[in-house]
Amino acid sequence: MNIILLGPPGSGKGTQAKRLEQRRGMRQLATGDMLRAATASGSELGLRVKAIMDSGQLVPDDVIIAMIAQRIGEPDCRNGFTLDGFPRTVPQAQALDDMLARRELGLDHVILIEVDEAALIDRLSGRFSCAKCGASYHERHHRPRIEGVCDICGSREFVHRPDDRPEAVTARFEVYRRQTAPILPYYRERGILRVVDGMMAIDEVAREIDRILG
Ligand code: AP5
Repeated sequence: MNIILLGPPGSGKGTQAKRLEQRRGMRQLATGDMLRAATASGSELGLRVKAIMDSGQLVPDDVIIAMIAQRIGEPDCRNGFTLDGFPRTVPQAQALDDMLARRELGLDHVILIEVDEAALIDRLSGRFSCAKCGASYHERHHRPRIEGVCDICGSREFVHRPDDRPEAVTARFEVYRRQTAPILPYYRERGILRVVDGMMAIDEVAREIDRILG
């Protein structure tokens, strides 16, 4: 099964995509994580995109489209995948259709996770992630089961994202409204858009997504 998780910054796309990977083996394809890995490695791509990401703006479509086109063809995606953070613009949504058609792959569901803006600000300001595997936590809502140890990989190193600073968060919300929200009608018209209340607790959101996927 191939799905897209859509939603504003902090809505829980990454949290839910990781759960789908653990429970159903659907590979999480998170463009934000791929780009952060490129910046951490100091690659040419990473150097090119770091300032754009830190300011909360979008990386150019051609860079992102090439990244995903290559990734969905890899063997670990054969069991299905969850697109987390892609597509984010209308040209990206169109390019996704082309690349899926070329590989004779389908898109089963597009799930929009809706969350109030005040809650998003709270989530992003309290977020921290595992420095090794990227698992996402929150200072109040989602702490590691063992204090200071990542639930997923056991690492003891955690980081805060530069784009979770208040100025960058404001820019990310604006970018979402202006550039990403316009892709919703694209999927609504095709009858594959489903909406989940992302204000519920993480486990309840996961149960709702499971109900949709069947
Ligand atoms: P990206 O990494 O994709 O960031 P984002 O879309 O802004 O989403 P986030 O990762 O911030 O949030 P999330 O929805 O995954 O929430 P999470 O599960 O972490 O992109 C970063 C940047 O990369 C972009 O700004 C852009 O520059 C670039 N980029 C990436 N993709 C691109 C593309 N396609 N085109 C162009 N540029 C691109 O949860 C957040 C917090 O809330 C966590 O602490 C979590 O524990 C907590 N939480 C989650 N769910 C709940 C819940 N139900 N209740 C309470 N707390 C919860």
